[in-house]
Amino acid sequence: MIYQVYPRSFADSGGDGIGDLPGITSRLDHLAELGVDALWLSPFYPSPQADAGYDVADYRDVDPLFGTLADADKLIAEAKARGLRVIVDLVPNHTSSAHRWFTEAVAAAPGSPERQRYVFRDGKGPDGAEPPNDWVSVFGGPAWTRLPDGQWYLHLFDSGQPDLNWDNPEVRAEFLDVLRFWLDRGVDGFRVDVAHGLIKQADLADWQEPQEILSGSEVDKPRPPMWDQDGVHEIYREWRRVLDSYPGERILVAEAWVEPAERLARYVRPDEMHQAFNFEYLLAAWTAPAQYAVITRSLEATDSVGAPTTWVLSNHDVVRHASRLGLGTASGRANGVGVDDPQPDAALGLRRARAASLLMLALPGSAYLYQGEELGLPEHTTLPDEARQDPTWARSGHTERGRDGCRVPIPWEADAPSYGFGPTDASWLPQPSTWAEYALDRQRGVPGSTYELYRTALRLRREHALARGPLRFLSSGDEVLTFTNGDLTVLTNFGADPAPLPAGAQVLVSSAPLDDDAVPTDVTVWFRVV
Ligand code: GLC
Repeated sequence: MIYQVYPRSFADSGGDGIGDLPGITSRLDHLAELGVDALWLSPFYPSPQADAGYDVADYRDVDPLFGTLADADKLIAEAKARGLRVIVDLVPNHTSSAHRWFTEAVAAAPGSPERQRYVFRDGKGPDGAEPPNDWVSVFGGPAWTRLPDGQWYLHLFDSGQPDLNWDNPEVRAEFLDVLRFWLDRGVDGFRVDVAHGLIKQADLADWQEPQEILSGSEVDKPRPPMWDQDGVHEIYREWRRVLDSYPGERILVAEAWVEPAERLARYVRPDEMHQAFNFEYLLAAWTAPAQYAVITRSLEATDSVGAPTTWVLSNHDVVRHASRLGLGTASGRANGVGVDDPQPDAALGLRRARAASLLMLALPGSAYLYQGEELGLPEHTTLPDEARQDPTWARSGHTERGRDGCRVPIPWEADAPSYGFGPTDASWLPQPSTWAEYALDRQRGVPGSTYELYRTALRLRREHALARGPLRFLSSGDEVLTFTNGDLTVLTNFGADPAPLPAGAQVLVSSAPLDDDAVPTDVTVWFRVV
């Protein structure tokens, strides 16, 4: 069970409205009490923050916004003292344009070794005034930017995030060293950003199809030339050898938006990464057949390579599931919700989110939580557009709201300034005025609260070794999903009518009150049959 901390929005010790490492350290007791095994920290490295820190200017330091290297050391030590493992984010697909390497590349001549660290090309057309190919940025707009000397550089994301050239041995050597730098400081592993993007098809061929971060979903279709190229795997094999040379268990987790599950499983073969995010699960619709299909496929695919399956419902890139599941469509990587968009049904969203989380926490393998979901926190869906900071909003020509709504600083104390996020009212994204009810101090010790639901589920998950499995489906109808995991039976009712519990069912936890001995709509229950 790994808990994602998004440092700028977790806890602010300094009062400038941006969360920081000392803030995280001061709240570690919360994570220990919740019962998580590890935390994954999104990037805290020096960065111009063009993409909230996923534009790294120096891989071996801490941005003054978030603290110092000494603060990072303290955080790692304090986490370990509480039995919590620490995973850091590694961003190898691109650096920031403020990275020393890129500054050197811009200053150097076309064809120079400095430019070989990135993907520079001459343009097309009479004066080379057209980009080298038709690729677009994941955030919108072209994936190429032209320098004054006429050459273009590739950026699959923001223009402040130039893609590295992974065919260059110097780039490979550099990242081996960065891995060692953090392993030496005691981290337990890395979440690898855009792990499916490092290698591009050598000819950088045009790609006329729609281009998103998710790489094609059918095995027999051509693969996009920028995603999931076979060459990425040898990079991870090399990294694996570095991790294995360290004592203890150190892990690599792939952020690879790769479908289908069989392709994703290639990232977690025995000599590669340990886990990969299961975005197919995150994107699955809230229906019994869709959930049955994705769970079955995911388990089969990872079993085929002997790796643990993973499960995730929310992160810093998608609409929080407490809102997503209240949006009706209930699937897709909804790219932000704005004030003039259809608004989610908050009650429905929370009810389904609680049922979905309890279903997820019963699945064998490794579950990932995103900060605030243990509070049932919704997306901020009425964020003023002026406050938005995700580059997606500007780069898409104000057509896609982007991801700010899931990144709003989280509420700890209902009656404190910034709901206890920091000592002042400052908050880098405004918090909704309705968030007091979600604050931790309103939920702690309150039976039936979302926080206590997560805590109970995590305790039972440990006690019943649910991470180990095996899972066996008992029913997979159109409306009800039932399976056993070890000595527990799990039932989720997706249908309109209440689903009866079997005779002798002893309920351990349910995502909402039961109706006599029946499970109402959008409720998950864990029970034992005695
Ligand atoms: C990953 C991160 C996302 C970031 C992108 C570019 O998808 O999760 O937040 O914008 O990579 O680094």
